[in-house]
Amino acid sequence: GAAELGPYRHYMQKEIFEQPRAIGDTLDGINGISPELFGDGAYSAFKDVDQVLILACGTSYYAGSVARYWLESIAKIPTSIEVASEYRYRDSVPNPRTLVVTISQSGETADTISALKHARSLGMTNTLTICNVQTSAMVRECRFNFITRAGAEIGVASTKAFTTQLVGLFVLTLALAQVRGHLPDDVEADHLKALRHLPAGVQAVLALEPQIMAWSEEFAAKENALFLGRGLHYPIALEGALKLKEISYIHAEAYPAGELKHGPLALVTSAMPVVTVAPNDALLEKLKSNMQEVRARGGELFVFADADSRIESDTGLHVIRMPEHYGVLSPILHVVTLQLLAYHTACARGTDVDKPRNLAKSVTVE
Ligand code: G6P
Repeated sequence: GAAELGPYRHYMQKEIFEQPRAIGDTLDGINGISPELFGDGAYSAFKDVDQVLILACGTSYYAGSVARYWLESIAKIPTSIEVASEYRYRDSVPNPRTLVVTISQSGETADTISALKHARSLGMTNTLTICNVQTSAMVRECRFNFITRAGAEIGVASTKAFTTQLVGLFVLTLALAQVRGHLPDDVEADHLKALRHLPAGVQAVLALEPQIMAWSEEFAAKENALFLGRGLHYPIALEGALKLKEISYIHAEAYPAGELKHGPLALVTSAMPVVTVAPNDALLEKLKSNMQEVRARGGELFVFADADSRIESDTGLHVIRMPEHYGVLSPILHVVTLQLLAYHTACARGTDVDKPRNLAKSVTVE
């Protein structure tokens, strides 16, 4: 009811603003990295595995897609990810030394549960879930777990569940890195420090809301949008597009920026806003040339840039600067801007933000 909403207009907005608290709670009690954070016996199980298979649906699938980059670059473990409903029904080649990781806000998504059971039936018994509901079927079915502390999420479009899943997946990455000998103490300390700073980092991003609202006015008048990202931020572009379509009903697609020239560039006109997630990482120069391709075709760019990147606003080029540069945890900050953009665009269009048409919070049928 209205009392629970406090100063917010919708649960989604409330849940976006709860993220500093949700992330802080999820990290509470983690004073060092250890496999046992995932349950008794995790050390020997983690020692035993030589690959990770992530299974999930929807927004949880995009959290897993970010984690794949972390797992391969930090823990140096081969990682694949698959949409649960696809994995479940295809012939695949099982490797018993796989850590099967499911990701689920509700812990009740039918497709994800049957994908997990399918993996187990193929002989993969090392199963772990990143889940927001301790009492869920998913937690009961998996050998190991990490419970995110987002709290009840009411808005159908997932927000705080996503960022806390990323936190859990980053902790998992560090635990696997440690077991595999890739986490020296000083590196562990640096990562823990960055994790602990996240609530303040997200808080600073939330302060960008007025600037993002100004953009949303323009978005509300569009029927299509393109989202671009590279590397770790490609799944964030996907999640930003998903948020926008779910609640504003604007058709949105995300592409890895390097793929622009292989198709979507044909769609770029002044009627198609192009949102670019542009952190100051090794791929920035490449991304800048992708952005030039858009501008040369009359496309209007909306860029989320880092504090110190040299991209200036210009005609057809709108820039919002992130408060700080955040290294490998940057996806957790960038997604918050895209949540706010989708939220305010939907508000401007007058949709039912918390209960978008045709969608359910938890899908318990296959
Ligand atoms: C539904 C929800 C999404 C969610 C997906 C997976 O489609 O609307 O927000 O990402 O299910 O749900 P889960 O509970 O497994 O994360």
